[in-house]
Amino acid sequence: MTYELVMQSLELAAERCEDLTPLVYERLFTEQPDMRALFWRDANHAVKGEMLAQAIEAVLDMIGGGRYGARMLQNEVVTHAGYDVPPAVFRTFFSVVVATLADLLQGDWTPDMAAQWQGLLSYMDEVVASALSTT
Ligand code: HEM
Repeated sequence: MTYELVMQSLELAAERCEDLTPLVYERLFTEQPDMRALFWRDANHAVKGEMLAQAIEAVLDMIGGGRYGARMLQNEVVTHAGYDVPPAVFRTFFSVVVATLADLLQGDWTPDMAAQWQGLLSYMDEVVASALSTT
């Protein structure tokens, strides 16, 4: 599977939007209001921004064929259990990122782009599941 359209979608979004953070978390909390409470310690939103930046870094590494991104994702599944974040929420979070990109890109969002993202989401599901089976 190649992911160049995933890369392209992130580049186009970066041109159009300086910071995806508010868009992503607004959508997340609208779709799943119970997630807001998980961030009770993050009153100044610093963790939310840093978290999204690191999550996108992991995506960039995975689509570039690196090993670091998948390992990071596995580690986060384990550390986030300590924040009461269930593993299934990782899929929700990344799906929200995809929906945010689609919204931003409007006419430039294509079915092929969506398909590559779906492929990546499935791959990340496997990575998340593997984190659980090794702990
Ligand atoms: C690859 C995906 C993710 C990465 C790289 C990531 C990264 C991080 C990082 C770096 C922190 C800050 C840790 C600290 O300095 O205290 C954090 C905290 C947190 N993350 Fe994530 N995260 C990811 C996915 C998620 C998901 C899917 C959720 C669920 C909505 C989530 C919810 C939280 C919460 C609730 C905190 C704690 C906030 C706090 O109490 O300070 N994270 N995450």
